[in-house]
Parts: sequence; C-alpha cells; structure tokens
Amino acid sequence: MDSAEYSYSVKSEISGFNEQNPRNWIDALKVSIGELKNRNAAAVASLQAIGIAGHMHGAILLDKNDEILHPCILWNDTRSYKQASILDQDVKLQEITGNIIFPGFTAPKLLWIQENKPEIFSKVAKVLLPASYLGFYLTGDFFMDMSDAAGTSWLDVGNRCWSDYALNAGNMRSDQMPDLLEGSQIASSVSKFIANELGIPRGVSVVAGAGDNAAAACGVGIMQEGQGFVSLGTSGVLLTARDAYTPLAQSAVHTFCHAIPKTWYQMGVILSATDSLNWLSSVTGKSPIKLSEGLTHKINGPSSEKFYPYLSGERTPLNDAHIRGGFVGLSTNSNQTKLTQAVMEGVAFALRDCMEVLKKAGPCPDQLLAIGGGSHSRFWLETIATALNKAIACPIDGEYGAAMGAARLAILGKTSEPIKNILSQPTIAETIEPRRDLIDLYCEAFTRYKNAPFHLKNIQ
Ligand code: XUL
Repeated sequence: MDSAEYSYSVKSEISGFNEQNPRNWIDALKVSIGELKNRNAAAVASLQAIGIAGHMHGAILLDKNDEILHPCILWNDTRSYKQASILDQDVKLQEITGNIIFPGFTAPKLLWIQENKPEIFSKVAKVLLPASYLGFYLTGDFFMDMSDAAGTSWLDVGNRCWSDYALNAGNMRSDQMPDLLEGSQIASSVSKFIANELGIPRGVSVVAGAGDNAAAACGVGIMQEGQGFVSLGTSGVLLTARDAYTPLAQSAVHTFCHAIPKTWYQMGVILSATDSLNWLSSVTGKSPIKLSEGLTHKINGPSSEKFYPYLSGERTPLNDAHIRGGFVGLSTNSNQTKLTQAVMEGVAFALRDCMEVLKKAGPCPDQLLAIGGGSHSRFWLETIATALNKAIACPIDGEYGAAMGAARLAILGKTSEPIKNILSQPTIAETIEPRRDLIDLYCEAFTRYKNAPFHLKNIQ
C-alpha cells in the first residue's frame, strides 16, 4: 500500500463563509498521482479501479457547458442560515430527508445563490458534490453515491432516491441532479483523455465512492449496529452504524445512507475539533504538537478553564450558525498548557453533547474506534474516553481515513469478495479505558460546561 497527499487552502474572507476552488482538488490529484508514479510506477501501471471520497455538502455548480459557475461553498459555510431555517420549518421535508436542514447542507446553499446571485442560479445545469465532481473530471459522467447525496437535503434518505418533494422545496429540478449509485457500484471508467493526462492505464474503473464519514467508516470496518468511531479531524464526529433507518431529525443527529446498500449511519457533528487546536496554534504561534507538549501523559482531572469550540457555529446538538466559541474561567494561573487542555476538553464535552442526543436515536456502541489527525494525542483520547465513559480503540499506525475507505469500495466494485472480508476492522494497538477514578469529576465538569452562562450566542 502507498499513499500521497497534497494540501490546499480554504478561502474564508467573511465570517461564516468558507470556499474552495474545485480546480485545486484536481491539481492535488495530479500531484499525488505523479508522486505515486515516481515512487511506485509498477503499482500505478497495474491500477484497476479508483474510489473517491470527499468532504460532504459542498455545492459545485456547473453550467450547460460543464463550466464551474462559483467556488465550492463548503460544508462548514453557514451563510445560508436564513434559507436553512425557512426550509427547516417544513416538517415533511425533515421526514423525507431524515435530518434538520442545516445551513451547511447543500439545498439551502442553492437557495442562497438564487437570492444573492440570481444570474448564476439561472445558469445551473448540474449540482455536484466534491467527490462527484472528481468523478466527473475522471470519467465525464455525472454520478453521486447515496451516502454523499444524503447530505444534500434533496434525497429521500430512507428510500435512497431523489425526492421530487425535496427538490421542489429547494427550487431544484431532477435533471440538475447526477445519477445515484451505491458506493461500491462501478459508475464508469476513466476517459482516455484523462488517463493520458494523469499517465494511468486506459479503462480504469471508477466506483461511486462515498462522503468522507461513510468512507472513513468503510476504512475501519464500522458497518453494523453496535460499531462506531470518534473522528478528530477539522470537524469532530461521533458516528454509529445502523442496520435500519431510524431518523431523529429534531435532535440535530445526522442520519445518512451508508456506502453499502440497505445500511445507514447516524452521527453527531461538531464543526471545530482539530480546527480549535489549530486556531490556538495560530494565535500563539506554536504548533499543535508544541502546545500539547505538557499534556502527553495521563490525564489527572478536568481543568478549571472551559473552552467552547463553536468557532464556526455548531451543528449537533445546537444547530446554531451564530454561536461563537469562548474561554470561560480564566485566571492569572491560566497558562498555555492549561488553555490547550481546556481546548481538548471543550472538544471532548462537545462530543459528549453529541453522544447524549445520539443515545436517544438508538443504542450507542460501548467502544469507539479513534481516527483522524487529533487521535495521535493520547491525552486527548483519554480525555474523550473519560468524558464519554466509553473505551476508545486506537488502530495500529497506518492510514485509516476516508481515502482508505474509498479504495476499499473500489476493491469491492471490482471483485466478488464478500463485504466483510474487505471492510474489516484494523488491528488495535491500544484500547484506552475511561479513567474510573476521574469519571465523576469529568461528569461534573460536563454539567458545569453545559450550565456556563451562554453569552456565546449572538455575540457578533
Ligand atoms: C458531515 C460534515 C463534515 C464534512 C467534512 O456532515 O459536514 O464531516 O464531511 O469533513
């Protein structure tokens, strides 16, 4: 196995606005494939299938000539809060889509475009998401997998098809939607032109792939009821696989199709997990690793400082685009290490907030797999294990992100291997148990966190 990566930035010039240029993703794909070819030309020459995963909800608008009309409005962009709250008053829409209509979802973004940039709205011939845009680049065909489509607010999530009712509510038409496929279905193959451009073999199959969370779940074998993960990426996610469709929209729990037919998953999403630590890093000028230096050992009790990680607003359970983050309980003793601890705890308590509502939707797994960049911090994981009172299993070192899940979906599409053989769980290096001696203290600290005066609402 080999991997290559290339990063690109987010443009966020106005608070609440987050955009990316889709062409940057294509550049990243080209550079990464080039790097893999340099390192392992034989492996690239024997390529048979590609799976794609992308961040969810981002709207890529194409005109009738397939030209991009607007930068991609990302999953954590909350500009369309008004349009979302209007859509959200439609109870039938919540029933069909299984979810609150969050500002970050795709449908309200299109309504925002309609209101604010009508000249662009009138030209929209197709709407894609990041993964389906890359699929279109590779093959020239329009397709989207169910797990990603579930985050648009245009899908009937229980029945896994576009909903005329939801499309109508969002002033969209079915001809503007790509074809729907399950994650491991072969959608098409790489076009000759792109195969030449990328220097990969002709005829490589492309499977539909998945939204990043469903793909990450495939990457670590979280496929059935009773299995779940906690992901510490830019966003924080507490996810559990579901064998049936059991939405609980009002709780702000997300209920989406999984990447495998007839399966779903539910998750609580916080918008700033490692993003909170990265923010502290940017204002202190110290890298996250440097900031965490004093926190590598075992936890020894909650900090008296509290941090609220609502830097970009919050999804679960608050559904509030305007709330902003904050430190509370600062004293002259509040040094950099304590603030770093408070940031990690704030993320842990926000995840506990997610767990409380996830439990109402169905059973919550006893043990969670840890994935994402933040899961390299043992201190952070022990904090989360204790704040949630759940054991946390850490996979042995390796790549378990969404890309791994997408590659596994490609294998499934190309072979007749049983699903359970491919979407298996990784070897566990260590299981971090909640600290029994500290659970009560973290429980009390969580109550204080919840009760702290909420000056954080409408603060701007
Ligand atoms: C899920 C969500 C994020 C993004 C970015 O609803 O918005 O997890 O997929 O990772």
